[in-house]
Amino acid sequence: MTTPERRVALVTGASAGIGATFAEHLASRGIDLVLTARRLEALREVAERLQSSHGVNCRVIPADLTDPEAPRRILYELARDEIDVDVLVNNAGYGLPDPLDESTWPEVRGFLEVMAVSWLHFIRLFAPPMIERGWGRIANIASLAAFAPEPDGSLYSGVKAQMVVTSRGLRRRFLGTGVHCTAICPGFTHTEFHARLGMPEVAKGMPRWMWQSADAVVQEGWRACERNRPVVVTGTANKVIHGLLSVIPTALAERMTPSSVEDIRTRRATDRS
Ligand SMILES: NC(=O)c1ccc[n+]([C@@H]2O[C@H](COP(=O)([O-])OP(=O)(O)OC[C@H]3O[C@@H](n4cnc5c(N)ncnc54)[C@H](OP(=O)(O)O)[C@@H]3O)[C@@H](O)[C@H]2O)c1
Repeated sequence: MTTPERRVALVTGASAGIGATFAEHLASRGIDLVLTARRLEALREVAERLQSSHGVNCRVIPADLTDPEAPRRILYELARDEIDVDVLVNNAGYGLPDPLDESTWPEVRGFLEVMAVSWLHFIRLFAPPMIERGWGRIANIASLAAFAPEPDGSLYSGVKAQMVVTSRGLRRRFLGTGVHCTAICPGFTHTEFHARLGMPEVAKGMPRWMWQSADAVVQEGWRACERNRPVVVTGTANKVIHGLLSVIPTALAERMTPSSVEDIRTRRATDRS
């Protein structure tokens, strides 16, 4: 399936949001797709749409990335059909609804497996063959939250900061091999993310200028990956916020952090009542 003229991209979390949009962006460039997420029907819908609108080959592989064996199973399934992955988009992700001290340990373990381990496992499995072939693109969807104080008891900023720091080091490691590695850092983006976290009202309360479309995130993110930029904060407003966060004292930034886990839970309780 892979020839230098016909690339293949593996996109995680491709059933919705930024992942589905990334898949569409790559399909519009004639790149074949391997789409993975848990919801098979949603994946099939994305695949059928992109096959018919862009004429690319799409394969769907349902997988739950809380399962530590999932990345390897995906590799084996592709290797069986001699499919090489040239573009890896590590996008699957979510927020833990409760703080660490109130989450169950399986919830925490699952979260860390998806957000802190699985994307590294995918890179470990798919980067060496990219290096061997002399071409590859790795786009890691991090977040503006990587540069912001952690909401009380949340683990989200921490795992995204790990993604940014580690992506930088991997990019340097791959320099000269033809493999690019970029951490893409969106701020508030219109997707299913906030509703699934149970905080649609918090999201609605954010001013419009703080929001981007998934399409805008992907366009800027892919451009940065093509240029092998280590990190890109997408959108002008997010760049300004990122600049401010790098100069103001942490204690002040903590006071300005808009939605702590407590805020989210209070508003969620209000929504329910
Ligand atoms: N939206 C924002 O404001 C925002 C801002 C900054 C960064 N981000 C990051 O952007 C990435 C994409 O999020 P999104 O905004 O597009 O959210 P979304 O619309 O909720 O999409 C999340 C995707 O991740 C998949 N996923 C979640 N848990 C999974 C699991 N256990 N195993 C496999 N796949 C799983 C979901 O598919 P299934 O449910 O079908 O498994 C879905 O395809 C995330 O890494 C998120 O942290 C989002």
